[in-house]
Amino acid sequence: MTRFEQLQSLAASIEADIENGPIVPAVTPQEIRRHLARYDFGSPRALDEVVCDVERMLQTWQVQVTHPRYFGLFNPSVTRAGIMADTIAAAYNPQLATWRTSPAANEIERHTLAWLAEKFGLPPETIATFTSGGAEANLSAVIVALTRAFPEYGERGLRHVEATPVIYLTAEAHHSFNKIAHMTGLGRAALRTVATACDLKMDVADLAQQLAEDRQSGFAPFMVVATAGTTAAGAIDPLPKIARVCRAENLWFHVDAAWGGAAILAPSLKGHLAGIDAADSITCDAHKWFSVPMGAGMFFCRHPETLSAAFHAETSYMPAKTLGPAVDPYTHSVQWSRRFIGLKLFLSLAQHGESGYASMIEHQARMGNLLRKLLENDGWQIVNATPLPVVCFTRAGLDTSKFLAALHERQIAWMSEVRLAGGEPVLRACITSYRTTETDIEFAVREMGHLVACQGGRMLNT
Ligand SMILES: Cc1ncc(COP(=O)(O)O)c(C=O)c1O
Repeated sequence: MTRFEQLQSLAASIEADIENGPIVPAVTPQEIRRHLARYDFGSPRALDEVVCDVERMLQTWQVQVTHPRYFGLFNPSVTRAGIMADTIAAAYNPQLATWRTSPAANEIERHTLAWLAEKFGLPPETIATFTSGGAEANLSAVIVALTRAFPEYGERGLRHVEATPVIYLTAEAHHSFNKIAHMTGLGRAALRTVATACDLKMDVADLAQQLAEDRQSGFAPFMVVATAGTTAAGAIDPLPKIARVCRAENLWFHVDAAWGGAAILAPSLKGHLAGIDAADSITCDAHKWFSVPMGAGMFFCRHPETLSAAFHAETSYMPAKTLGPAVDPYTHSVQWSRRFIGLKLFLSLAQHGESGYASMIEHQARMGNLLRKLLENDGWQIVNATPLPVVCFTRAGLDTSKFLAALHERQIAWMSEVRLAGGEPVLRACITSYRTTETDIEFAVREMGHLVACQGGRMLNT
């Protein structure tokens, strides 16, 4: 067997184990800690024995996010190319901080990101980097936007910015922005919550009104965050209208497309991302809908000079800059040392091609539509509207946490609960696996129907 075939067969056998095993674990912290007590690291152990033990732990003590009936929080089933890429990256351990140290790896990343930047409609001067995930990409966006709006921020800090800077987003935007406001020194109160319409999309009239009021009161608006595929309900903010407001008001336009960004490759969905080409920056996670292992975020920015102003670094101990068109990633992004994150996206794209990816994404959108239809036929009420495969639903009087506990205990599927626009909890199911089939969806809806019928009053609020 070649090395490639060995890895393929390992990945295939793990996939099969997961598919045939439980989805949701039942374990306490004490049970795991008791088990781990045997590892006092006092004397060496045989590696194969420890690896077997770790695999047993992972097989039984985790939510299996790559199971076809994990309808969860954007954690995907991973491509085999992605698994191989992570193995190869670990073994060769390239250091991507500077171009000079890892020319091949840096060019593979640059090539992959440039291809995707073009798909988003960004200009050729766009610089993009792989990040640990969407939170780091969103952090990068806020730092770069601050640097552009307030040139004194980098050297002298926020206290030397005359007016208080503020950012606009909706309550449906990802919570990472609250942490980012905290970490950057803006303060969490710098986030302005723009109202949403009943479809949970940003209300642009409210955005314009809040902007005018804030300017009048002496605040310094500098950034709007639009979400293309909100975490809870998959809503896509009206990107073209927000882009127009940002242009007119000289504001940084960031699109958080951490999950939804992959729809740009799907002919039936990409129209919903119209307007993303006007973004100053974009967050898009490869470890979500591009189906590669964690952690692989991406940050795209159309202003190379601002990126370099925000993240420049000069030290004598790093290799000197390479002449020519090459960029040293540590001078254009948050991370210093960095892993070969981009290989998993490169290998997966190279293997499946754009058309293969379009099929995987459209398949999941179809499974989402099927789920919606079968739920409605079975008396459930759908409470969100999105072309993306995330379905929020409920039924009269349902106690969502009791229902989920029963669903998980019976290993029917993994789903979660969520509150939309601060309302009552509802169920949330997202198709995150390209291996989810119609049979999986039919099974889940049928079993959920039995659960409600058999358990009757026990599933209802009392
Ligand atoms: C819209 C959105 N933005 C950002 C993030 C954060 O991404 P990560 O978990 O990769 O840091 C998420 C995570 O689900 C998300 O849904």
